[in-house]
Amino acid sequence: MPISSTRRIPDHTSTPAHIAIIMDGNGRWATQRLLPRTAGHARGVQAVRRAVEACGRKGVRFLTLFAFSSENWRRPQQEVSLLMRLFVQTLEKEVDKLVDQGVRLRVVGQLDAFEPRLQALIHAAEARTAHNSALTLTIAANYGGRWDILQAMHRMLAAHPEIAGQPDVIDEVRLDPYLSMAYAPEPDLFIRTGGEQRISNFLVWQLAYTELYFTDCFWPDFDARELDRAIAWYQGRERRFGRTSAQLNDQG
Ligand code: IPE
Ligand code: IPE
Ligand code: MG
Repeated sequence: MPISSTRRIPDHTSTPAHIAIIMDGNGRWATQRLLPRTAGHARGVQAVRRAVEACGRKGVRFLTLFAFSSENWRRPQQEVSLLMRLFVQTLEKEVDKLVDQGVRLRVVGQLDAFEPRLQALIHAAEARTAHNSALTLTIAANYGGRWDILQAMHRMLAAHPEIAGQPDVIDEVRLDPYLSMAYAPEPDLFIRTGGEQRISNFLVWQLAYTELYFTDCFWPDFDARELDRAIAWYQGRERRFGRTSAQLNDQG
């Protein structure tokens, strides 16, 4: 049997250790109010702050937020620029708060596509918060799940060129350390706001057995109550990882 990272069944009745969120619906939130889409992104930053605080209070260990996908470059140039500016401003303004809250910040994605100033801010913020351990906040920026799998494969082969001649030795466990979120357990709970029910090239490898929760709530409206609702739903799920219900009850 291939070695799989989904052998262990996490205790789903407790707080999820890792929550991953696609923060969707900023544009529609703004359009409904006759505002420019960019106003929705600005309000979305406030929802990020609320989510970080709420997860910190609940003892969630890892919160991962999809901020900009590798496909989002296809948006109008003006919207992309605004999103980049917002990213810079948020990093400049919020890092002190993250330090106070004991939050460790990580940014995953193809960061070399960003302007040097943004890259420098990201590295500085990661370094400043590296020793924090209450909550690890990961921002996925210029991230794509397929890119992640490929970059992991490339880095693994660069580190172990001998593997290329014996592909059979490649298994999940060998690839895992090279994935960009190797420092975190796989997400227990995935949340997508904004009503769409798709993964949009988010953590395609890591979400293999994650419980998927979709809500119509637009991201700027997402708050601690919405988070509670998602967690309560999660706690009612039965995570079987291929087994039967009876097997789980026997173990239980
Ligand atoms: C998500 O909100 C934010 C980003 C992709 C950066 P959208 O901008 O996709 O909002 P909708 O889906 O158009 O409402
Ligand atoms: C996914 O949202 C990416 C982020 C939230 C950053 P999109 O709104 O871009 O997703 P699609 O393209 O509609 O699936
Ligand atoms: Mg969208």
